Amino acid sequence: MACSCLALFKTICLVLLYVQSCVCGETEILGGKEVKAHSMPYMVLLLNRTGQPVCGGTLLSSRWVLTAAHCLRITAVRLGVHSIKKSQNYESVQVQTYPHPKYDSGTFNHDLQLLKLNQKVEQNNTVKYLPLADPIADPLEGTTCLVAGWGLVDNTTNTMSDVLKSAEVDVMGRETCNSSTYWKSQPVITPDMVCAGPQGKNEDQDTCKGDSGGPLLCNGVQVGVTSFGVAGCRRHKKPGVYTFLSKQHIEWINKTMGEPALHLSVVLCLTTGVCGETEIFGGKEVKDHSMPYMVLLLNSTGQPVCGGTLLSSRWVLTAAHCTDNPCVGFFASITEVRLGVDSFKKSQNDESVQVQKDVKTYPHPEYDNHRKVHDLQLLKVS
Ligand SMILES: *[C@@H]1O[C@H](CO)[C@@H](O)[C@H](O)[C@H]1NC(C)=O
Ligand SMILES: *[C@@H]1O[C@H](CO)[C@@H](O)[C@H](O)[C@H]1NC(C)=O
Ligand SMILES: *[C@@H]1O[C@H](CO)[C@@H](O)[C@H](O)[C@H]1NC(C)=O
Ligand SMILES: *[C@@H]1O[C@H](CO)[C@@H](O)[C@H](O)[C@H]1NC(C)=O
Ligand SMILES: *[C@@H]1O[C@H](CO)[C@@H](O)[C@H](O)[C@H]1NC(C)=O
Ligand SMILES: *[C@@H]1O[C@H](CO)[C@@H](O)[C@H](O)[C@H]1NC(C)=O
Repeated sequence: MACSCLALFKTICLVLLYVQSCVCGETEILGGKEVKAHSMPYMVLLLNRTGQPVCGGTLLSSRWVLTAAHCLRITAVRLGVHSIKKSQNYESVQVQTYPHPKYDSGTFNHDLQLLKLNQKVEQNNTVKYLPLADPIADPLEGTTCLVAGWGLVDNTTNTMSDVLKSAEVDVMGRETCNSSTYWKSQPVITPDMVCAGPQGKNEDQDTCKGDSGGPLLCNGVQVGVTSFGVAGCRRHKKPGVYTFLSKQHIEWINKTMGEPALHLSVVLCLTTGVCGETEIFGGKEVKDHSMPYMVLLLNSTGQPVCGGTLLSSRWVLTAAHCTDNPCVGFFASITEVRLGVDSFKKSQNDESVQVQKDVKTYPHPEYDNHRKVHDLQLLKVS
């Protein structure tokens, strides 16, 4: 996500508060202070594909994390973290991403994303859920709220704060925030956003890059998600902007979290448990050869990655994510199809098992890994 320098506003470089965005500003929770270790046990550290921390989030339940949509390409999270360095050997939990479908990087509308953990996490001393209130009251102008994150501390090297920090910010009315003195409708401040910034006694505190996705907490209730700010975060007249957990946002969160875990692609995918969701949990073993149309799909290292169904003598139906899946490595290839398999182990040298090694893949052209739509693929075997 690059920093979008609005043509009309050449001097003000609007940055998403994201580590990967451009380096064009000051970068920590300025003037904030280190929080007592594990005093905010619902804070989650988000890692990108190379395992580097890029954003924050909050753990809503045993399976779901709330963050900002502009935190792109998140593949895993770390829980119970205070110091990033000390957490290096913590187990990280893989996630699937559910960005808000109407998120718009141009207007910053609906900058919200849910992450589904591939395994359930239990609460303990260092890991706790922060369930959302419902409804969430619009915070009044002047309310002092708390923001937290591992925002950058060094504006030249793009490294995040090692320890979790928090800062106080004051809520500003939307009209004021939108007015010519502040954001000048660039972008437009909507009812789905909350402005809060350094004002009055908290003048030297603000969020900055790297704090993205973290919570805005007013009286202990999560009211928003850190969305965007401006280069040199502490710059006066540009309060931080947070995605408000408005009624329509809560509805989307509810709906997304409530979605049945098994969609077609998942049913088709017998996988290995790399992606928790693709396992069939608690299912029972089927009678030998009672589902003779089931086929096993293997990758180039001979590992089973997915299941499929044999539609005809040449065609197998499976999920598109079997070959384009952050959990098994992008663009994993399927190079072998085994027919008549009951046990993977036994199939290695079972003569009744048919092995096809000439496999052509035809993923659905509109498959979107991010949105989980059209997750279908045909395989042609010779
Ligand atoms: C980094 O922060 C320092 C101190 O706040 C400031 O003087 C400097 O201009 C900043 N550098 C950049 C590249 O923003
Ligand atoms: C992960 O984040 C780091 C730090 O911002 C960045 O240097 C790296 O390119 C990112 N990797 C990917 C795959 O996005
Ligand atoms: C708390 O739970 C987390 C996540 O499941 C786990 O990584 C951590 O080891 C647990 N800590 C303790 C003290 O049990
Ligand atoms: C901000 O300004 C724009 C255009 O000037 C307007 O459409 C919008 O309703 C305003 N928002 C608020 C919260 O006043
Ligand atoms: C969200 O779900 C809860 C529990 O299912 C329900 O009580 C609440 O009314 C829902 N809220 C919205 C805004 O849909
Ligand atoms: C094959 O699949 C296994 C299990 O999912 C995985 O660990 C391995 O990296 C994959 N190999 C390739 C080349 O994709």
